[in-house]
Amino acid sequence: MLLPLACLAVGALAQFGNNGAPFPEVTYEDAISPNPDVVAGAQSNQRSPPKYPSPWGSGAGEWAEAYKKAIDVVKQLTLEEKVNLTTGSGWQQEQCVGQTGGVPRLGIRGQCLQDSPVGVRYTDLVSVFPAGINVGATWDKRLAYERGKAMGYESRDKGVTVQLGPVAGGLGRSPEGGRNWEGFSPDPYLTGKLFADSIRGIQSTGVQACAKHYVGNEQEHFRQTPEARDYGFNISEPGSSNIDDQTMHEVYAWPFADAVKAGVASFMCSYNLVNNSQACQNSYLLNHILKDELGFQGYVMSDWQATAAGVPAVLAGLDMTMAGDIRFGDGASYFGPNLTIAVLNGTVPQWRLDDMVTRILAGWYLVDGDAEIELPNFQSWTPYTNGAVHAHVGPTWGTGVVNKHVDVRREHGRLIREIGAASTVLLKNTKGALPLTNKEKLTAVIGEDAGSNPTGPNGCRNHGCDVGTLGVGWGSGQANFPYLISPDAAIQHEVTSRYGSYESITNNSAFTQIDLLSKRVTEAAGVCLVFANADSGEGFINIENNFGDRKNLTLWQGADAMIANVSASCNNTVLVLHTVGAVEIDQYKNNENITAILWAGLPGEQSGNAIADVLYGRVNPGAKLPFTIGKARSDYGTDVLYTPNQPVPQFNFREGVFLDYRSFDARNITPVYEFGFGLSYTTFAYSNLRVEKLSAEPYTPSSGSSEPAPTYGSIDNRTASHTFPEGFTKIPLYIYPWLNSSSLNASYGAPGYGDNSFIPPGSRDGSSYSHAPASGPNGGNEGLWEPLYRVCATVTNTGSVAGDEVAQLYVSLGGEYDPKVVLRGFERVGIEAGESVEVEFELARRDVSSWDVVKQDWVVTEAAKKVFVGKSSRLLELEGDLE
Ligand SMILES: *[C@@H]1O[C@H](CO)[C@@H](O)[C@H](O)[C@H]1NC(C)=O
Ligand SMILES: *[C@@H]1O[C@H](CO)[C@@H](O)[C@H](O)[C@H]1NC(C)=O
Ligand SMILES: *[C@@H]1O[C@H](CO)[C@@H](O)[C@H](O)[C@H]1NC(C)=O
Ligand SMILES: *[C@@H]1O[C@H](CO)[C@@H](O)[C@H](O)[C@H]1NC(C)=O
Ligand SMILES: *[C@@H]1O[C@H](CO)[C@@H](O)[C@H](O)[C@H]1NC(C)=O
Ligand SMILES: *[C@@H]1O[C@H](CO)[C@@H](O)[C@H](O)[C@H]1NC(C)=O
Ligand SMILES: *[C@@H]1O[C@H](CO)[C@@H](O)[C@H](O)[C@H]1NC(C)=O
Ligand SMILES: *[C@@H]1O[C@H](CO)[C@@H](O)[C@H](O)[C@H]1NC(C)=O
Ligand SMILES: *[C@@H]1O[C@H](CO)[C@@H](O)[C@H](O)[C@H]1NC(C)=O
Ligand SMILES: *[C@@H]1O[C@H](CO)[C@@H](O)[C@H](O)[C@H]1NC(C)=O
Repeated sequence: MLLPLACLAVGALAQFGNNGAPFPEVTYEDAISPNPDVVAGAQSNQRSPPKYPSPWGSGAGEWAEAYKKAIDVVKQLTLEEKVNLTTGSGWQQEQCVGQTGGVPRLGIRGQCLQDSPVGVRYTDLVSVFPAGINVGATWDKRLAYERGKAMGYESRDKGVTVQLGPVAGGLGRSPEGGRNWEGFSPDPYLTGKLFADSIRGIQSTGVQACAKHYVGNEQEHFRQTPEARDYGFNISEPGSSNIDDQTMHEVYAWPFADAVKAGVASFMCSYNLVNNSQACQNSYLLNHILKDELGFQGYVMSDWQATAAGVPAVLAGLDMTMAGDIRFGDGASYFGPNLTIAVLNGTVPQWRLDDMVTRILAGWYLVDGDAEIELPNFQSWTPYTNGAVHAHVGPTWGTGVVNKHVDVRREHGRLIREIGAASTVLLKNTKGALPLTNKEKLTAVIGEDAGSNPTGPNGCRNHGCDVGTLGVGWGSGQANFPYLISPDAAIQHEVTSRYGSYESITNNSAFTQIDLLSKRVTEAAGVCLVFANADSGEGFINIENNFGDRKNLTLWQGADAMIANVSASCNNTVLVLHTVGAVEIDQYKNNENITAILWAGLPGEQSGNAIADVLYGRVNPGAKLPFTIGKARSDYGTDVLYTPNQPVPQFNFREGVFLDYRSFDARNITPVYEFGFGLSYTTFAYSNLRVEKLSAEPYTPSSGSSEPAPTYGSIDNRTASHTFPEGFTKIPLYIYPWLNSSSLNASYGAPGYGDNSFIPPGSRDGSSYSHAPASGPNGGNEGLWEPLYRVCATVTNTGSVAGDEVAQLYVSLGGEYDPKVVLRGFERVGIEAGESVEVEFELARRDVSSWDVVKQDWVVTEAAKKVFVGKSSRLLELEGDLE
């Protein structure tokens, strides 16, 4: 539902941050895509085209068995049982951050939906895995899968049926974006692959994954209207990501196509608007792109409080509302009784409700969730064993054992340590600084980021502070640490277990002491290991006026002054960065005393051990940057909008497909360290590129139309049959499916019955829908996934130690407006010293196609295409033609 835009002058809006301080003036080059059509497709106030009806699932492919099971159940359900499965019970009414109603009559439990993408949030005795951005840095599909699987087991053992992750939106349009670290990389191809393998890993355990946030959720500022008031802005709707059709397909929706192909059970639509229509109510995004083009067979849930209407959202493709209530804890719902009413009054057709419920149950059966998972044995709303059963309404409504404190970690610490080391990118290594030998006469560890938070590893709720070492960012994307091994602890153990000399200073302001220690290290020819960080997170928390998004790209905790202090006297300064993304480090690259730089990201609970493994050479670094590090924020050509430009802030994605390295390449800006860059303790050489054209069927655009929408069972249309059962005890503010009264009007529960009644043309027509050319079940037109080329190359380890190399394949699509190169393949391989390995890549049709906005389909253009294989987006060692 789009509210009319009031013609408020921009000047009429508050222009202040906290304490009346103005936001820093951001000046950056307005990097506009060279393609005028793309720019024209990213304008303020543009609208989303309507697409109805909402495609009903067909149970195609791998989903067949799950659909059969689901349909058998749906046939037996009453109207309110169906509604129950689509609706959350309300904020803090049950154990999980989101929990749907169940069907007690048939022994079907409500689904337990729980954050986060790094572990089980809001409970104890769980692991905190490295963040998505670290998985991005591994460029390792196996590790993405293994991490997903380990997280899936932990969710399962806590009784969670849906893990709310992984993340491909925010993709990372601007480095300042607060939640970028939850995802993998601003490159859609790299993200897509790691996203898909994470999903496969999670779902292999019987837990459903949730591909989120769909789509355009690229900044925290203005994602929610009440939140914006907290930082001084009165906006009338969440901000709108205005994205042209080509960029949507080639960049933002791209990884979500991989998720559908991987069989993800659920999607979460995002808070933001897209083209001025709520993402959870945008028929073009949900009905057209997701459910028709990508042929998604699972269900779409809203982000928490992101549902903005009932009937219009349902008709636009939303299947489940979370957390169920309209505003947290208000006891009202756009679904629940309103959905029951909408079906009874004929507004929502039965086929649509049946489709919603079938999709939800099929997601559960797809992963065999029904067979595997016990009920939740924890409660998100208290750490204590005993507590209120319905936390929101307090102990009057029942108390009991709500937390069984089940330790679900197995030995995942080992994998976490492995991923931590495998995701550490070596950016600089001069004068033989690394690896360390542990024979250093004096080892100094300096920096607040090396130490612990004096109030404990979980001392700040939702990790909403930056004190001590940074293991994870803040918000809903984190979990409670079972322990957090600081670099100080791990390196101290390393050195002192061999009775070496070790001193650490974790107070960045202890200038005098740091200066003295640095000088002593130099005279002893030792090493200064310096730790620094930069944090970000979700918009409901701010740290130092970083309202989710970072307000700058410099280091935090006063680290720059500390590093200047150390490097002025310590001639062997090794800098380790725990940052959520790119930071400004050009001055360190060029500083002779900074002999090495490592980016370690957000490594999770094994942080110290993982960095020690790399520093001391037990692990040879093989990670590569999953984003570009530029000299200054203006180099990226994209930025967060910090001050509303309209009452509905307009985020115009005028750079189109030119994110990150594509932008640096196109504008000829030299980065500090480019996308894909990373050193090793050994060296690699590339040779012998071979390109083989495979025989493939010609591409056939889809056509025709669907079968009519099925309905399952019949609905008793007498309103009196749907009131609360006799004698039922209602928990206050709990969302039930039943009516309060046999009068639909009275049950609606608010004045203005009918304000929810926008019914777009064609939206209730269940006779058929026509298939878009690019469409096909489970990931789009099958021709898109067909391999067209095989590319091989030889990689040789030319150094003296074994190591991992990530061979990267880039394609030049060759069009006038195409990026110089785009990533289209990567393989991480371990190679013994002096040995060679063959790396092999397959290019699918999609990988060499472009989105044609006129044909509304993917096409392989006539432009001459090239393929490159190399070490980074700028070290393209080998080159060949794609005929
Ligand atoms: C957004 O609007 C642009 C410009 O009209 C259009 O090309 C694009 O397909 C729209 N996308 C969505 C999701 O509505
Ligand atoms: C809906 O779910 C709730 C919570 O699981 C349950 O108490 C209620 O009985 C369910 N309603 C129906 C109609 O099954
Ligand atoms: C916000 O703006 C709306 C109209 O745009 C106005 O009705 C409301 O009073 C404003 N609220 C605040 C807190 O300024
Ligand atoms: C039905 O939805 C309207 C908003 O459209 C809301 O005001 C009302 O409280 C809802 N009714 C119930 C019973 O949740
Ligand atoms: C850090 O060192 C400075 C300078 O010596 C001192 O003023 C400050 O109190 C110290 N902070 C802590 C937390 O000890
Ligand atoms: C640092 O200076 C010391 C003392 O002059 C010297 O022994 C050592 O080799 C120097 N280290 C580096 C990395 O330059
Ligand atoms: C950037 O923000 C961080 C975190 O708020 C702050 O510590 C740092 O001082 C800021 N940098 C500059 C140059 O103001
Ligand atoms: C590097 O360290 C030495 C001390 O070993 C110092 O004399 C020199 O000024 C430092 N260089 C820089 C650029 O700070
Ligand atoms: C209710 O269902 C009966 C039987 O299917 C049908 O004849 C009747 O018209 C329906 N009434 C309404 C109000 O839809
Ligand atoms: C039907 O019910 C829905 C409640 O969800 C309401 O919004 C709509 O206005 C009603 N339509 C009619 C025609 O009564």
